[in-house]
Amino acid sequence: MVGVHSGRTLTPAAAEVDGALGGALAAHLEASGFKGDIGETSLLPTLGRLPAAELLVVGLGPQPATADALRRAAGAAARKTGRFGTVAIALPDPAPNHPGTGLAGGQAVVEGYLLGSYRFDRYKSGADGRKDSRVLLAGGATDADLARGQAIAEAVAWARDIVNEPAGGRSPQTFAELAYQRAVAAGISAEILNETELARRGMNGILGVGQGSRVPPRLLILRYEPEGATGFVGAVGKGITFDSGGLSLKPAEAMETMKTDCSGAAAVVAAMCALPALAPKIKVVAATPLAENMPGGGAIKPGDVIRHYGGRTSEVLNTDAEGRLVLADALAWMAEQRPDAMIDFATLTGAITIALGKKVAGFFATSPLLAAEITGAAEATGERVWQMPFIEDLRRQGDSEVADIKNIGTRWGGAIFAALFLREFTGSTPWIHVDIAGPARSDEAEHHIPKGPTGMGTRLLIEWIEQRASRQGGV
Ligand code: BES
Ligand code: MN
Ligand code: ZN
Repeated sequence: MVGVHSGRTLTPAAAEVDGALGGALAAHLEASGFKGDIGETSLLPTLGRLPAAELLVVGLGPQPATADALRRAAGAAARKTGRFGTVAIALPDPAPNHPGTGLAGGQAVVEGYLLGSYRFDRYKSGADGRKDSRVLLAGGATDADLARGQAIAEAVAWARDIVNEPAGGRSPQTFAELAYQRAVAAGISAEILNETELARRGMNGILGVGQGSRVPPRLLILRYEPEGATGFVGAVGKGITFDSGGLSLKPAEAMETMKTDCSGAAAVVAAMCALPALAPKIKVVAATPLAENMPGGGAIKPGDVIRHYGGRTSEVLNTDAEGRLVLADALAWMAEQRPDAMIDFATLTGAITIALGKKVAGFFATSPLLAAEITGAAEATGERVWQMPFIEDLRRQGDSEVADIKNIGTRWGGAIFAALFLREFTGSTPWIHVDIAGPARSDEAEHHIPKGPTGMGTRLLIEWIEQRASRQGGV
């Protein structure tokens, strides 16, 4: 596999191969109208003139290639090379001085290739016999780069796997146990709070959302506390294992994809479990509220009032606005742990996809510094985020006759109202909220992103943590 830039500019490796083929590569590209766009691919036979039977050309976009262009190109290429026993990759190093080039050498290529090779086929007949390709990587990648790329790609694959699991067999307890096992195997400490413990602590948002289901809610807490840590951050992830809407039931079509409403929790757990391998010197505590939102006989009712962890109350007027109810408890708990900053990932609102489309996450930050941090981290990982404003006027929509705040506002600016709701529970802790309702799942396979659950947020959280750790340690 070799790369070609926009305008059919051959990389050095492509030029070398073209030489060995007597100019056949350049001629093939010309004849097939290959443009060199990022992730564009073309396969040609080598007719015995190269050790490889076939040559895959992949577009890298403008010269020089960015880390994300390489990640995307490798991801697109992975999907075309699954049937080969051995794949040799010769892609250039990412351009220096470009966001994300803290990523050295082959890391982006390894990430992209592994992420693009992802499949979820455990419920498909006949998938058992499929074998992975052996991959040879040319270029200056160090073992450390490869190990990092692999650890990060495995984290994302785990997040995709658990979200792909049908909700019928993946209750809050099952989710918590799978996460617990992975955490312990990775060497971080894990704790699962059951419904009795949630009640004792007054986590009534999590309990209230979970009470309409036959399967009880959980709160999973993970702690990464490396020796010599400076700094402390908190991470929270929305873990609704299925969102039927509750008594404010969703229409059938809107419910089809709602097993993916635990994507925030999956990303947070996956990122946490990757930390021991990456070893950033910073303390990180994660909390993922897990509940199934169902309309059973015990379900929370419109008009009910919840006393959240910490004592603030909310009036539940729409049981489908359940994410904010479970996050309220978790954020209030996290703020009490006194981190320097905290972040949450949540498939929170359909409204954010109206605002930004399905490929971009909207984020809210309580300070410009935090906004710059998350924007910088997203540039490095190639996950797309856009800052949203706290429009203070909208808070009035939440004024309630009986409680501190209502859980819904009007139709307009729904993602902003949801963020304002959450903010009430964060105290004075600096905080970033990332609404991943759009990019948590993809309608189409594209580059390293599969159709279905994407693992969005996993790499972003890892990157944000690592950048904070290096800043704390460095200066
Ligand atoms: N989980 C949904 C948000 C969502 C929608 C995620 C589509 C992914 C794709 C959330 O719990 C929800 O139902 N939000 C409501 C809020 C409304 C009732 C205020 C929504 O967005 O419609
Ligand atoms: Mn909902
Ligand atoms: Zn939801």
